[in-house]
Parts: sequence; structure tokens; C-alpha cells
Amino acid sequence: MKILGIETSCDETAAAIVEDGRKILSNVVVSQIDIHATYGGVVPEIAARSHIEAIQPVLKKAFADADLAAQHLDAIAVTHTPGLVGSLLVGTLAARTLAILYNKPLYPIHHLKSHIYANWLNAHSDSSNSLPNFPLIAAVISGGHTQLIYMKHHNHFQIIGTTRDDAIGECFDKVAKILGLSYPGGPSIAHAAENATYPTKYSLPIPNVPELDFSFSGLKTAVLRTVQHELHLPISTPSYELKDHLNPNQVNNFAAAFQNTAIKILIKKLQKATEQYPAKSIILAGGVSANTALRHAVQETFQKTHQVLFPAPEFCTDNGAMVAASAYFSINSQNPPKPQDPYTLDISPRSTIY
Ligand code: KG4
Ligand code: ZN
Repeated sequence: MKILGIETSCDETAAAIVEDGRKILSNVVVSQIDIHATYGGVVPEIAARSHIEAIQPVLKKAFADADLAAQHLDAIAVTHTPGLVGSLLVGTLAARTLAILYNKPLYPIHHLKSHIYANWLNAHSDSSNSLPNFPLIAAVISGGHTQLIYMKHHNHFQIIGTTRDDAIGECFDKVAKILGLSYPGGPSIAHAAENATYPTKYSLPIPNVPELDFSFSGLKTAVLRTVQHELHLPISTPSYELKDHLNPNQVNNFAAAFQNTAIKILIKKLQKATEQYPAKSIILAGGVSANTALRHAVQETFQKTHQVLFPAPEFCTDNGAMVAASAYFSINSQNPPKPQDPYTLDISPRSTIY
């Protein structure tokens, strides 16, 4: 079964063709990171316009790379929730148009669900090609979301933990801004942390959040206060001024302190989750799961007790292949979704329902 997956929920215009949920026939991603970096974050209006410019060439290349004509597709899948309104509209309109033109079944896909399904793609970092085993705990850690999901089988998603404020990726991005590191913050923090000469110099608190929930806004504020304290500046000093006073050594050490604390928070909650929910596998998903230090820490903590999996780095961040994989495994699950009418398929910017 060959499925076209389209993803435009944020700042990547992506399309891929995947066979039987695992075999990647093509995977095209055009990132707008350079455009948004100037502004230090994603500007929704610019994102939508950039998707409009990129969607046709991206689709063309996805078909060309797969050497497949649209009439030979078995289905079309597209991210319809959650995400930026203008961005979601571009991808869904393209998918609806293709579904009408070529009379193909159309499946709307939940963005977080698709991040999880990146773990089924035949593209694991360790080239083990292993499939996750149920039941499993998935940590969806991205720029917009932080959730622990318990899955007993395909197309079954139980949210067992969620952030009460900022997402972990958002926190990486905000802390990077305080330290004067470039957007997106995740890769810049990871890089700075690698160069830290004294990674344990600053200690940051681990928040005490009940159950399996998370909170990251306190950690961001803790970084801010510790930087102000280190620089002997009053707490009234605006965060955007601090970077001018930090030397590279301090930046690297703060990046390491923050990254280590964020990792500890996640590991702690994952440990708690495994005590409450019997799982064979622990899988990571979403942009933050590209973080090497985090991957090592999760592997080290759980490898003796669980199968630990994460997608290859390029499939951690937004892509179309995960959308196609998600559709395939839903269609072939115990409770398959019905295809949607391409004339009426709508988007939903906010959604926690899987
Ligand atoms: O999944 P994604 O591409 O988009 C959303 O659905 O949000 O995730 C983007 C997020 C950004 O916050 C970015 O800073 C973070 O993933 N990220 C990382 C790394 N690469 C990307 N965070 C930590 N370490 C990384 N290597
Ligand atoms: Zn994403």
C-alpha cells in the first residue's frame, strides 16, 4: 500500500511516499528555519506564505523521487491538527485537491500521533530496523507539545502525562534566546552543551509536578534568575539584555546545566510511568528526541528493562513520511478510520484528542 503523506503544520513543508508504513520511497522536507531565525521564532503569517510557495515543488519532487504517478497511490494522508491555521490550510488544501483529482481515499492525521509513528519507519538511528512492541510508552517531546502516551495497540492512545505550561522544545528555544543562541534552540543548546568546560557549575531545580505531568516554565525562569545572579544584575534586567554580558564559557555551561536538568525531568517521569504502566518499549518522538544526550540518557536508564527506540534524527522533526506511516497503521488497525470527504475536510488548530 503506497501512501502520500503531507505535513505543513508549522514551519516545514513536507511530502513523502511510504510503502506499507515502513518503506520510504521518497521524503522531501523544505524547512523555513532560516526565514524564521531572523525573528527568533516562527511567524505564522510568513510560515503560511512560505508553504504556499513550497508545496507544489515539494509534491513534484516527492513523486519524482519515488518514481510514482499520483494515480498509482493507494491513499493520501495529511496533518489536519494541531498546528498553525494558515500552515495547516495549505497542506490540507493540497491533499484535498489531489484526492479529488485522482479519486483517492483521504485520511486526516493528528500531528502528535504521526510523530509517534516515525518510530515504525524503516529508519532507526541504530539501523536495527526493529519495530516497537506493545504495550509501549511514547514520549512526544516537540516544540509545541510534551506528552507521555500509553499505547496498548495500534491506533490506541492514552495520554498519561502532559505539560501544564510550556512544551520542552519551547523551553529549549526560550533558554537559547536568553543565552543569545540561534533559533531553533534545541540544536544550538545541544552544541553549546557539548563545549561546556564545567557542565555542573550551575544547578537548576527539578520542579515537583504531580502525577506524570510536566512543567517547564519554572525551569526557564530558573535559568533566567541564575544568569542574572551570575552576572550580578538585578532581577529587573530584561532577559534580552543578558546575552550581551555572558562570555562563551558561561553560555556553554548554562546550556549544559539546562539540558541536563531537562533530561533529568524527562527520565524521572518516564521512570514513574514505567512503574504505573507495564510496557515492553519506550519510544521517543518529536523534535527534542533528536537530542543526542537525551537519547543516551534514556538508553542508559532503560535498556536493561525495555526496548528503547527513537527515529533517525531527520525523522524526529516534522516530515511527511511519519504522516504516511501513521495513516497506514491506523488503516490496518483493529478500529480503522473511515476516509474523509475531500470536499469538507477541515483543520483544527488546537486539539488534544487522538
Ligand atoms: O517536532 P518539531 O519539529 O515541531 C513541533 O511539532 O513542534 O520540534 C521542533 C522542536 C524545537 O523546539 C527545537 O528546538 C527542538 O524540537 N529540537 C531539539 C533538537 N532538535 C530540534 N531539541 C533538543 N535537541 C535537539 N537536537
Ligand atoms: Zn512536530
